[in-house]
Amino acid sequence: MNILVTGGAGFIGSHTLVELYKAGHTAVVIDNLSNSNPESLNRVERITGIHTPFYKVDIRDRQGLDSVLEQYKFDACIHFAGLKAVGESVSMPIEYYENNIGGTLVLVQALKAHGCRNIIFSSSATVYGDPAFIPITEQCPKGSCTNPYGWTKSMLEQILTDMQKADPAWNVVLLRYFNPIGAHPSGLIGENPNGIPNNLMPYVTQVAVGKRPELGVFGNDYDTPDGTGVRDYIHVVDLAAGHVAALKAIQDNCGLAIYNLGTGHGYSVLDIVNAFQRVNGVKVPYSIKPRRPGDIATCYSDPSKARKELGWQARYGIDEMCRDSWNWQKNNPNGF
Ligand code: NAD
Ligand code: WQD
Repeated sequence: MNILVTGGAGFIGSHTLVELYKAGHTAVVIDNLSNSNPESLNRVERITGIHTPFYKVDIRDRQGLDSVLEQYKFDACIHFAGLKAVGESVSMPIEYYENNIGGTLVLVQALKAHGCRNIIFSSSATVYGDPAFIPITEQCPKGSCTNPYGWTKSMLEQILTDMQKADPAWNVVLLRYFNPIGAHPSGLIGENPNGIPNNLMPYVTQVAVGKRPELGVFGNDYDTPDGTGVRDYIHVVDLAAGHVAALKAIQDNCGLAIYNLGTGHGYSVLDIVNAFQRVNGVKVPYSIKPRRPGDIATCYSDPSKARKELGWQARYGIDEMCRDSWNWQKNNPNGF
């Protein structure tokens, strides 16, 4: 299939390109580079030998979208483009709603105008809020988000659901990612956060490489085995492969389909620190800090629906996630 990948220069997008090419698909990327470096696409070319056509286009720019959509015939769009910093979204809610929701509205209208009514959307486990039950299945009710970023995902799920209901010619796949970490095993592409990392693994790798003195562990008094927060970390290569699998749902005319993409295993913050130190033979000094506002104790998936319906399941475990995160960081201490 020929795929339009929005946000394809970013962390998950660049890894998804590699998996798309491995599966024999073709792709075109649009990205406004607000949180990425186009060097990622050169690296994808080094890994795969395939050059990705790239257009610096903002998804809010209808004319820019039209100019790309006029040049190619796309079978589907994988839509990663969006702002994703939870803390920033609290201080800049309007920018987040405008970029993520406004941008997606422009994108789907442009896709439809050019005859493409197949979209795979990057959603998040954050839509479950403080989950009603664990492990989280897709039947788990959506919850109250604790920040505007999360609400953009929850609202966009509703918008895309309503769109598909009104026009059943659309196929909409909502992929709810758990916690993507790791990097391509080549060490050529990986996560490249701007400024102080918000997420656990990039913070751990920056401590390990000596860029930051220690990790703050946000709370050790949760109702979890060691008191620290438990999450479902998933290797980004597995997550990327989940998008290729989701194209199957599109080909089968799924209408609206929702899948969790996780491993089904929960690891605590200290599990991650300990595994990282053991696998990589490096020290990660840490100290216990107060809880981070908005955090929940435990969040992990039941990923069996994606296994049954898409034939997809995560292959990599926590050791490979720690190994590949470190391999990327150590080879690219300042990112791309
Ligand atoms: P990323 O920031 O690396 O990639 C997003 C890309 O979108 C960036 O390259 C950015 O430049 C681009 N972009 C942002 N706004 C744009 C716009 N208006 N027009 C065009 N391009 C724009 O983030 P990522 O981790 O690769 O995440 C990809 C998607 O997955 C995002 O939608 C994110 O919210 C979602 N997601 C990520 C995680 C995670 O933990 N990384 C978890 C759940 C969901
Ligand atoms: C994981 C655990 C922290 C940093 C977020 C978004 C979600 C999705 C993925 C994407 C928690 C602890 C973290 C640190 C720590 N987003 N932690 N010290 O919060 O599960 O999910 O990213 O686009 O929407 O909310 O991930 O990596 O921030 O935190 O102790 O310096 O690590 O408290 O228990 P989270 P995370």
